[in-house]
Amino acid sequence: MTTRPKITVKWAQTLDGRAAAADGSSQWITGPDARADVHRRRAAADAILVGTGTLIADDPSLTARDPEGALLVPASAQPVPVIIGARAIPAGAKVLHHPALGARFPHPIRCSGADLAADMEELGALGIRSVFVEGGPHIVSSLLRLGLVDELLVYVAPALLGGPRLAVGDLGIESMACIERLSFTRTEHLGPDILITATPVRTAPDQKETR
Ligand SMILES: NC(=O)c1ccc[n+]([C@@H]2O[C@H](COP(=O)([O-])OP(=O)(O)OC[C@H]3O[C@@H](n4cnc5c(N)ncnc54)[C@H](OP(=O)(O)O)[C@@H]3O)[C@@H](O)[C@H]2O)c1
Repeated sequence: MTTRPKITVKWAQTLDGRAAAADGSSQWITGPDARADVHRRRAAADAILVGTGTLIADDPSLTARDPEGALLVPASAQPVPVIIGARAIPAGAKVLHHPALGARFPHPIRCSGADLAADMEELGALGIRSVFVEGGPHIVSSLLRLGLVDELLVYVAPALLGGPRLAVGDLGIESMACIERLSFTRTEHLGPDILITATPVRTAPDQKETR
């Protein structure tokens, strides 16, 4: 029986599907209402996951906080940080002082990412039932490509960035016959932004579309 946790991926993007500016900066794509929504969802997850690319670029706290910066839920209920990748966590990174770290998880959980399916199973074996993935594009794309994503939360800002920093990269889909269909389960306005919640429509390979 699988122990894999429920995996939710979240990203913020401009209307033209960019997750960061050409210089790599990505903070504040969306407004305060969208960011508050993300923090509420972090608080509901057992673990919060990023790749080393995001960790090194953004030095995220990976905590659930209110708009004033106070913890939204007690330390014991904060999502445990999970870092995917081979590169070291930089000394002084905020995640090293994450409030969820303690007796049960003294350090952020590290996974190599070489076998993400196995990594997710291992998280399940640690008692983690839900993982909130906050990027970046490489990790999100890998999880999507492997069919490991149960729910997508896409925060769309009414803005354009253009350029090469796409929210999702190569999914290994080479023709329309292999298109990955989703179902929009909810759309909501959050201030100037829109949150689209989508779930994969899992079809057998021989039921994929043909033209
Ligand atoms: N708009 C948003 O919602 C959003 C969210 C997060 C980040 N960002 C932005 O995205 C940028 C960072 O993007 P990124 O794509 O480089 O970050 P990332 O996905 O967080 O990290 C990618 C790194 O993860 C490691 N990794 C290990 N196994 C992997 C696997 N199976 N698949 C993919 N990666 C694996 C690799 O590093 P190792 O060499 O260490 O193994 C890889 O370079 C930053 O500019 C950040 O600000 C935007």
